[in-house]
Amino acid sequence: MTLKLVVIGGGSSYTPEIIEGIILRHDSFPVTEIVLVDVEAGKQKLEIVGQLAKRMIEKAKKPIQLSWTLDRREALKQADFVSTQIRVGGLAARSKDERIPLEYGYIGQETNGAGGIFKAFRTIPVLMELAKDVHEICPNAWIINFTNPAGIVTEALLKHSPHKKVIGVCNIPYNMRHSTAEILNTKPENIMIEFIGMNHYVFGRKVWVNGVDYTTEVLAKLKEGLDYSPANIVNLGWSQTFIKATSLLPNPYHQYYFQTAQVLKKDVQALKENGTRAEVVQQLEKSLFELYKNPDLCEKPKELEERGGAFYSDVACSLMDSIYNNKADVQTVNTLNNGAIPDLSEDAVIEVNSVITKNGPQPIVVGSLPDSVKGHIYQMKAFEKLVIRASITGNYEDAYLAMVMNPLIGEEADSKRLLDALLEAHKDYLPQF
Ligand code: G6P
Repeated sequence: MTLKLVVIGGGSSYTPEIIEGIILRHDSFPVTEIVLVDVEAGKQKLEIVGQLAKRMIEKAKKPIQLSWTLDRREALKQADFVSTQIRVGGLAARSKDERIPLEYGYIGQETNGAGGIFKAFRTIPVLMELAKDVHEICPNAWIINFTNPAGIVTEALLKHSPHKKVIGVCNIPYNMRHSTAEILNTKPENIMIEFIGMNHYVFGRKVWVNGVDYTTEVLAKLKEGLDYSPANIVNLGWSQTFIKATSLLPNPYHQYYFQTAQVLKKDVQALKENGTRAEVVQQLEKSLFELYKNPDLCEKPKELEERGGAFYSDVACSLMDSIYNNKADVQTVNTLNNGAIPDLSEDAVIEVNSVITKNGPQPIVVGSLPDSVKGHIYQMKAFEKLVIRASITGNYEDAYLAMVMNPLIGEEADSKRLLDALLEAHKDYLPQF
């Protein structure tokens, strides 16, 4: 029997993570073939990563056939899983998403605010094409989407592409579980968090340790100033009042929305000192690829943990393992709401604990949104709908409305100025506009 995984964006510096994840799970998830796919611009990186992946598999002595190619359609033949981790326009485009809004006095971030909107505009049409190919060539395959903005992209594919076997994943719920375990001095596998909301805008509402409710203890610790942020985001901590009043665990990205002025100040300072995060990552990538080239390196280097998306492979590989083995365990994914949050439409994509079987995720009922964040989440979901529409049609007014409706922009004249500046800066990657 064959079990084939195709990694779209296989030349990414993150790829050794997913290879490690596959190797570690090979007993239960016996992948027989992996194909790394990239585009012409990523050819060199693909070759380096491919060679490293090959050495990793050889060292682990796993019977996995590995290859790499620029021919996506050929690669997709007989695929069972297709994971995506692409960045249309590369880090250079990300840098513009981060820098240009800051120049106008707004948050510049790859998944939030104007930057996130433009990442969606560049990405959705490309992944829509991929989904069409998957549907035609390997209709039974699951698309595991890591590509940012992961929630918006997943909703776009589920609503507008012919392929319906699409699941969005992110490392933030994973990070929150791990940090909570650290806070409570226990193992992550003992922790269960009830998540409520959407990708990069998800809250934890309840925390259980081995089934016992520890929410109050975790909130108290957060109030003492403990926090959890991945490498790519500031870590300002939360005020006692915010935590007490909301009784929710915010995720690190909420700092952009609830501490906007302070984050902006920090980001402007960081821009002056080190450049944008994209530029920092470019440097990091350079040294990572130098390491990857070393023919003696046969494992994922520790330095990869300096990336914000570190450990994403645990999320992706556990998910594929559970689908393959029909495990019916609970994992946090981006999937159709289907009534889990009755306040939101059934076809909205939410980030939610779901039972994972070979039929995909079955979301667990969350119930109504807390009043404190209901309005925000309504606004964010409505905003996302406009982003998706504009991504597909290239309609200027929808794009403009998305900017106006985004809580990190809002101001109408600036929305237009910023929109026009970003449309111009990214025009090579936005044929739909
Ligand atoms: C976080 C986010 C990911 C994002 C990553 C960026 O982990 O959840 O969605 O891709 O950070 O990390 P980077 O190292 O590229 O700044």
